[in-house]
Amino acid sequence: MSSILTDGSLAVVVNGMTFPNPFVIGSGPPSTNATVISKAFAAGWGGVVAKTTSLTDNPVVNVQPRYGKLNSPSGDSIGFQNIELISDRPFEDWEVDFRKVKDAWPDRILIGSIMECYDKSRWQELASRCLAAGCDSLELNFSCPHGHPESGMGAAMGQNPAMVEEVTRWVVEAAGGRPVWAKMTPNITDIRIPARAAKAGGADGVAAINTILSTIGINLKTLRPTPTVEGHSTYGGYSYRAVKPIALRMVGELATDQPGFAISGIGGVTCAVDAIEFLLMGASTVQSCTGPMLQGFEMVTELGEGLGAFLAQHSFADVHAAIGKSLPYFTTHHHLVELQAAKKAAKAEALANRDTEWGKKDFVAEAGNLVSSKD
Ligand SMILES: Cc1cc2nc3c(=O)[nH]c(=O)nc-3n(C[C@H](O)[C@H](O)[C@H](O)COP(=O)(O)O)c2cc1C
Repeated sequence: MSSILTDGSLAVVVNGMTFPNPFVIGSGPPSTNATVISKAFAAGWGGVVAKTTSLTDNPVVNVQPRYGKLNSPSGDSIGFQNIELISDRPFEDWEVDFRKVKDAWPDRILIGSIMECYDKSRWQELASRCLAAGCDSLELNFSCPHGHPESGMGAAMGQNPAMVEEVTRWVVEAAGGRPVWAKMTPNITDIRIPARAAKAGGADGVAAINTILSTIGINLKTLRPTPTVEGHSTYGGYSYRAVKPIALRMVGELATDQPGFAISGIGGVTCAVDAIEFLLMGASTVQSCTGPMLQGFEMVTELGEGLGAFLAQHSFADVHAAIGKSLPYFTTHHHLVELQAAKKAAKAEALANRDTEWGKKDFVAEAGNLVSSKD
């Protein structure tokens, strides 16, 4: 297959990895085994972050139903909530899948996503086994907001900067120079703090954001929250269109705070415009998870065509030339007020004494204003 997605014109090089295009499947159902990962690559995605794995003796038991949707009054899906856990497959099966996928798609980037409890040897074992099985790099799941935090994993670690730094350091030590990204939780007051901790621990970049803790709705007949499992529910992770503005803000904050630190932007990407916005805010790759779940892997065709057209329209030589280009236009509100006052003053100055202005106010007073003072 040769298309704009694979002919090199959208290629990005991040932490030494060459992605044929910046579009990456985010960790979740669209990356849950070799079959779906291969479908993603066949559709043209440049990279895949596999569904998060842990060592086999970690119990993972999912419930059903585990998803919920928020639709707009016109019926479009705008938000999605899940209470899904990480992969429930034995890690040994993942090792087989990683090898199979990497052998079949050597030009694509395969990223292993890992999560473990607070135990150095477990993190290091998981990291080195993923890389030995064919993963190009690692993403550390410090951000799953439901289920796992109850046992000190996922977002429970991501909300603790000291732990983020320490665990990142363990993995970087085991990764032998292969790139390591830390996936950030948005369920924190200031996302820059754990990102700084990840960098201090030796990470090469961050992925942002994981899902936002939420409840998608309540059944007004039964008074039960949804998704309802045996009459009960739990707070889950919110994604898709509705989260994009929050994700863009967080990516912008991260990019401004640590220039040069790689960011894989994620949250609500459904079309080329969304993906380009993440690039303009400083991301060098853009992930989508709920997008392919609801729209299919083929959505990447529109992402590629849209990005190609955008680069041509702005005469950007490549994708790198667009990264972070909107960041200089963010400032403080105080500065906006100053800018507006300065513009108003300049306009008044330019209009002062022009013949076109005569008669707009009190004509006699206007004439009087132009009489020279006697003293
Ligand atoms: C059903 C579902 C399962 C997910 N599982 C994982 C996971 O195992 N590991 C992870 O890091 N993120 C997981 N995520 C989070 C996504 O990778 C992503 O960060 C988030 O959904 C926001 O992006 P989106 O709006 O493109 O989906 C999951 C998301 C969904 C919807």
